[in-house]
Amino acid sequence: MKILVIGGTGLIGSKTVAILRHGGHEVVAASPKSGVNTITGEGLKEAMAGAQVVIDLANSPSFEDTAVLEFFKTSGRNLHAAEAAASVRHQVALSIVGIDRTDNGYFRAKVVQEKLIETSGIPYTIIRSTQFLEFLGGIADSSADGNIVRISPCLFQPIAADDVAAIVADVALAAPRNGIVEIAGPERAPFNEIVARYLKAVGDPRKVVSDAEARYFGGRVEERSLVPLGEARLGRIGFDEWLRRSQARA
Ligand SMILES: NC(=O)c1ccc[n+]([C@@H]2O[C@H](COP(=O)([O-])OP(=O)(O)OC[C@H]3O[C@@H](n4cnc5c(N)ncnc54)[C@H](OP(=O)(O)O)[C@@H]3O)[C@@H](O)[C@H]2O)c1
Repeated sequence: MKILVIGGTGLIGSKTVAILRHGGHEVVAASPKSGVNTITGEGLKEAMAGAQVVIDLANSPSFEDTAVLEFFKTSGRNLHAAEAAASVRHQVALSIVGIDRTDNGYFRAKVVQEKLIETSGIPYTIIRSTQFLEFLGGIADSSADGNIVRISPCLFQPIAADDVAAIVADVALAAPRNGIVEIAGPERAPFNEIVARYLKAVGDPRKVVSDAEARYFGGRVEERSLVPLGEARLGRIGFDEWLRRSQARA
């Protein structure tokens, strides 16, 4: 089966491409560097030809509110037009748990991305994931003021990129759900404690302060804003195992 992975060079994209290729599928890893651009449309028609499944794992180069909204709007429209022309049977996209429960600019753009998928007329599955463990350093940086990192004590359930990619590949090979599936890591704990554990483990001297008023990328968060509320498919790699693997890779 031919599978087109948009953003196939990214964190999740490159892992998903490797899994699907290992499974014997013909996989095109598409990105601007490989001449496929969902914003300009460059190379999209050619890459899409004969693809039965399209997996969208692209991300905006800028996280500024307007830029990210424009990225997911334009990318989605161009992608769906090309998918319709190529009679794609299943489109899969990676979204985020709680995007409609916390108000920040990035989440607003992901809501728009989901709406475009749902109204595209092309069979789809949206995978809403919790935050990647690989994103913990970025979260700490975005919440830091000098040596102090203010993080909400809300619940948090991060997932390893390896688990995300395995689930994305599995979902892409199954029938379209025409709905949303949620995925999360195997461990749930207060957000501030997980970030503190991460900084300690990597030898970062910054101090995490629990702050119920601390925002998540500008959005207010409550106890369960960032975790699945209903049934979720869980990854297998916990924090310690993820750390061991990432330190072994470094
Ligand atoms: N971070 C989290 O915790 C989290 C949680 C849940 C869901 N997500 C979602 O997961 C998805 C993947 O994230 P990631 O961290 O794997 O992304 P990433 O590592 O930043 O990779 C982004 C990919 O998008 C490609 N790309 C950028 N502009 C493009 C364009 N115009 N046309 C085609 N491809 C383009 C990049 O290609 P180049 O290499 O050529 O630039 C790269 O392959 C995102 O949609 C994100 O919203 C993230």
